Amino acid sequence: MSNYHIKHLEEYFQVYRKSVRNPEAFWEEVAEEHFFWRKRWDSVLEWDFTKPEIKWFDGAQLNITENCIDRHLRSRGDKTAILFEPNDPKEEAQHITYHDLHERVCKFANVLKDQGVKKGDRVVIYLPMIPELAVSVLACARIGAIHSVVFAGFSSTALATRINDCEAKIVITSDGSFRGNKTIDLKGIVDEALKQCPGIGSVLVAKRTGAKIDMMEGRDHWLQPLLDKAYADCVPEIMEAEDPLFILYTSGSTGRPKGMMHTTAGYMVYTAYTFKNAFQYREDDIYWCTADIGWITGHSYIVYGPLVNGATTVMFEGVPSYPDFGRFWEVVEKHKVTQFYTAPTAIRALAKENLDFVTKYDLSSLKVLGTVGEPINEEAWHWYNDHVGDKKCPIVDTWWQTETGGILISPIPFSTPTKPTYATLPMPGVQPALMDENGKEIKGNQVDGRLCIKFPWPSIARTIWGDHQRYKDTYFSAFEGKYFTGDGALRDEVGYYRITGRVDDVIIVSGHNLGTAPIEDAINEHPAVAESAIVGFPHDVKGNALYGYVILKETGESRDRDNLKKEINQMITEHIGPIAKLDKIQFVPGLPKTRSGKIMRRILRKIASKETDNLGDISTLLNPEVVEQIIEESL
Ligand code: PRX
Repeated sequence: MSNYHIKHLEEYFQVYRKSVRNPEAFWEEVAEEHFFWRKRWDSVLEWDFTKPEIKWFDGAQLNITENCIDRHLRSRGDKTAILFEPNDPKEEAQHITYHDLHERVCKFANVLKDQGVKKGDRVVIYLPMIPELAVSVLACARIGAIHSVVFAGFSSTALATRINDCEAKIVITSDGSFRGNKTIDLKGIVDEALKQCPGIGSVLVAKRTGAKIDMMEGRDHWLQPLLDKAYADCVPEIMEAEDPLFILYTSGSTGRPKGMMHTTAGYMVYTAYTFKNAFQYREDDIYWCTADIGWITGHSYIVYGPLVNGATTVMFEGVPSYPDFGRFWEVVEKHKVTQFYTAPTAIRALAKENLDFVTKYDLSSLKVLGTVGEPINEEAWHWYNDHVGDKKCPIVDTWWQTETGGILISPIPFSTPTKPTYATLPMPGVQPALMDENGKEIKGNQVDGRLCIKFPWPSIARTIWGDHQRYKDTYFSAFEGKYFTGDGALRDEVGYYRITGRVDDVIIVSGHNLGTAPIEDAINEHPAVAESAIVGFPHDVKGNALYGYVILKETGESRDRDNLKKEINQMITEHIGPIAKLDKIQFVPGLPKTRSGKIMRRILRKIASKETDNLGDISTLLNPEVVEQIIEESL
């Protein structure tokens, strides 16, 4: 296990130096020691960031599910692989062993085959956090189908866009989902979406809520009867290293979502390696990541990373506030969770509640705490450290992205001294660079700039599905020869990184990545709206909330403003989902624009954040007079 488990800071530096001196030798050693390959690779890495083209372990053959499941059957067959904790605490938790998982994945894979799904076909999965979600992801991987999980909070329009973009053949969903005391009609959302998706031939429906739903003859099939008839073994499809494993959509600065495509071998090696190190995972630990599998965090650190390591991974269906604000801690005590990984927005929400919700539970099983998704503020960091970790558990502030596939910057617990709000040091093999606006690298410490990565790591996304040019333009064109993350960062006096936030038009709300353009597009569909601009402003629980500036058409001027606000948020809910709703809507006579017609979001951001003392030079604007008016009427 030479390279695999870093145990102290000196070792981290040794491993890190080795990993950047000769990345190929480093990753080859990791890949050789810990995985099951059907055929060895011909070359470890081929890359060219100008094209961009990246290939890891080219020539190798494998199936990731053999690494996640089959290989553990002999030594860990009766160990719990997935520990399912339902929404309702009165419903019993399910312990799905590696043996059970093997059977469930094989049966599901055979059902997919019977439905005509073949290697390379796209399968859209729109499911709540129930075991079928993890099982269906793995079933796709078993037969070489490309899964594209769509978070079950997205609207029917957003779902349809994704189904059509990846030209999926089949959708997997459920009759509904439980979230706290709400029941959501997922099948109804799918039915609505499929009116716009002629390519979908069949829909598999898992039963969860028991709600009465419409089943379309010939298209919709209940899953369970098909599983009951399916054969319990399924020979894995042999995949090439660079065969696609999944597509996962993320927002961008322009309208259409980006289908980030991840491939097989590099993704497996990197998520497994980082899971083990960033969480110091040991056999018999009970690891819990509270994310949804609809996001990259769930793909890499609920499903693939933990299972490749033979871990027990908790899957939680519910929400942190149901039946009360102690739910997370009740689950930690009940299952004796050792690693707990969540988002700063959840921590901030829980920190607002009575401390009794935390103190009444025994959290002594915890060893490592993690956060992801957005910068964690100092206050939330200390609350997490003091009250959840009892000052004994290192907090790993893990920075990464849908595009990176795995954690790139993070402390190694028990090795890297933590520092509140700092993601600290790069993982082995990761070579960050801070760039100035002229495209020059800023060397040395105590500096800040735009965060780029200079060298490929194994789980970097290989393309945007169907749009390689956009992949190149978005990530590899701002700084020549480097991957540009879209984030700003600073490097302190000892070389620790702190992520300062997005430098583009993406806003992170409650840890969810939202592009301004799709939200503006949705608002502009309202018949009374002429134009709109969205910016983020600080929010004490969500991190950022959305502020919309809306210009009405003449026809809209006479309408009731409160009703209009409701309708605008309704438009957003229909086009994207409730996560993108605006906290504040201001109707404005115009938007500040440059002479070339570009909206000056910088000014709008300052007004939304109530920082109007220092707006900078506005005299060069096309319409400086509008700024004063917007400030006067700001909310
Ligand atoms: O701005 C960064 C922020 O989340 C963005 C990536 O979002 P997404 O692709 O949805 O993936 C989230 C889960 C990996 C980044 O560009 N972000 C993520 N983690 C952190 C963070 N910002 C600060 N600190 C973090 N630990």
